[in-house]
Amino acid sequence: MDQKQNKPETKHTPSTEKMARYQSGFGNEFANEALPGALPVGQNSPQKAPYGLYAEQLSGTAFTAPRHINRRSWLYRIRPAAMHRPFAMLPDGTFHNRFDELAGDPNQLRWNPFPIPVKPTDFLDGLFTIAGNGAAAAQSGIGIHIYAANRSMENKFFYDADGELLIVPQQGRLRIATELGVLEVAPLEIAVIPRGVRFRVELPDAEARGYVAENFGALLRLPELGPIGSNSLANARDFLYPTAAYEDVEIRCELIAKFQGHLWSAEMDHSPLDVAAWHGNYAPYKYDLTRFNTIGSISYDHPDPSIFTVLTSQSDTPGTANMDFVIFPPRWLVAEHSFRPPWYHRNIASEFMGLITGVYDAKQGGKSGGFLPGGASLHNSMSGHGPDAASYEKAMAMDTSKPQHVADTMAFMFETRAVIRPVEQAMEARELQEDYWQCWQAINRHFNPKQK
Ligand SMILES: [Fe+2]
Repeated sequence: MDQKQNKPETKHTPSTEKMARYQSGFGNEFANEALPGALPVGQNSPQKAPYGLYAEQLSGTAFTAPRHINRRSWLYRIRPAAMHRPFAMLPDGTFHNRFDELAGDPNQLRWNPFPIPVKPTDFLDGLFTIAGNGAAAAQSGIGIHIYAANRSMENKFFYDADGELLIVPQQGRLRIATELGVLEVAPLEIAVIPRGVRFRVELPDAEARGYVAENFGALLRLPELGPIGSNSLANARDFLYPTAAYEDVEIRCELIAKFQGHLWSAEMDHSPLDVAAWHGNYAPYKYDLTRFNTIGSISYDHPDPSIFTVLTSQSDTPGTANMDFVIFPPRWLVAEHSFRPPWYHRNIASEFMGLITGVYDAKQGGKSGGFLPGGASLHNSMSGHGPDAASYEKAMAMDTSKPQHVADTMAFMFETRAVIRPVEQAMEARELQEDYWQCWQAINRHFNPKQK
C-alpha cells in the first residue's frame, strides 16, 4: 500500500480511548481481539490475515529459550512496525545510561522528592536518571530513573529497546496506551512495559511522579517460593494484562526509541498503536501492590527481606538476581524478644529505595526532611546502614509481647547484585541531602562490659 506524504489527517474512534479492560494471570498465554474475528484461528501467519491486517511476531526472549521462560506474542496490525521514516539520534538529555560518569560511591545517599516541573513536560521528557549499573549492550544491570511530568504525550510514542520498564507511580495516575492495549495505573500499583513495546503515557490527574527501573537483564518474573509452598507473595492471578485495543489514526507523529543508551526519533504518519488483535505471553502488565500477601516471622526475628520480593530478574548465577523488586507493605510485626525494625546490615547487594506513601519503619526523620514519599536512598554494596538513632531507641523501648501494626506505608527497593553508580546530575541535584550521614551519628553507646 502506498502511503502519501500529504494525506489528510483522519482520526477514527480509537478503541484505545475506551476504559481499559484486563485479563489476568502472570505470563499466561492470552488470545484476544478488539474486532470480532481479527485473530487468525489455528495458525500465526496466514496468507491473508483477517480484515487485511499484517501479522508480526514480537519476541522478548531467544527463540530457543526454555519453554517456561519463553516469551513472544503475535500482533495483527494495520501496518507493520517497520513502517516509519529513518531514526535520527537526539541530543542527550536527562534520561540516559552513563553510569560510568563518576566513581562508585560508598556513602549512604538520600534525595528529597524531585519537584513536578513548571514548564510543560511529558512522561518521557520528565525522566531523570539517578543511577544504574551494567549496560544495555551486555543485557545486564539496570537503570534507575525518576519521572515528574505535567502533561500527556501527544502524537508521540516511545519504546525502549534497551530493557523492560518497571514503572512505580508515586503521585498521580498514568494511562499507558500500548500496542497491546491500555493500562491504567495508580499509585500503589506498578506497570511493566516489555522491551520494544511502543506506548504513550497520558496523565489523567494532570501531574504525575514516580520511579522507573529499566531492566537490561532477564525479564522480570515471579520469585520461586521454596518452602513457602504454592501460594503467597505476589499471586500470579493478580497480574493484569490489557486486552487488545487499537487506534486507526492517520496523523503525523513521532516515534522515539531508546537504543544503546541514546534516544532516537523517527517520524510516522500513523499511530503505532494499531494492533487489532494479539495472542501470546509477551505483553505489558500491571499489579496492585496492596494484593501482596506478606510473609513474616510469627515467632522471633524477622527473615531476610528477600521475603518481600514481588518480581525478580535472574542472572546467570543461581539465586543471585540481576534485580529484585521488593516492597515493604503494611504488615503486623509480632516477633517476640526481637529487634523489629530492619536490622543493621551490610550486604553484598546494592539497594536503591523509594517511598510511595507513609513512613518507612527504619527512618523517623532528619534535618533535611528524612525519607519522604517521592524521595530516594541508595545504600551500596558493603556500606553500613540500618535504623536511624530515633528508630533504634523506639524499637528498644517497644513491648515485644504485643503485636504492632505497621500501617499506611509502602516503601520499595530495587536491589541489584552489582554496585549501583549514581550519575552526575543526581549527585549535583539540590535534592541530594548533604546531611544524611548524620542520622546515624546520634546513636548512643550502650556497651557496658560489667552488665550483660
Ligand atoms: Fe538495606
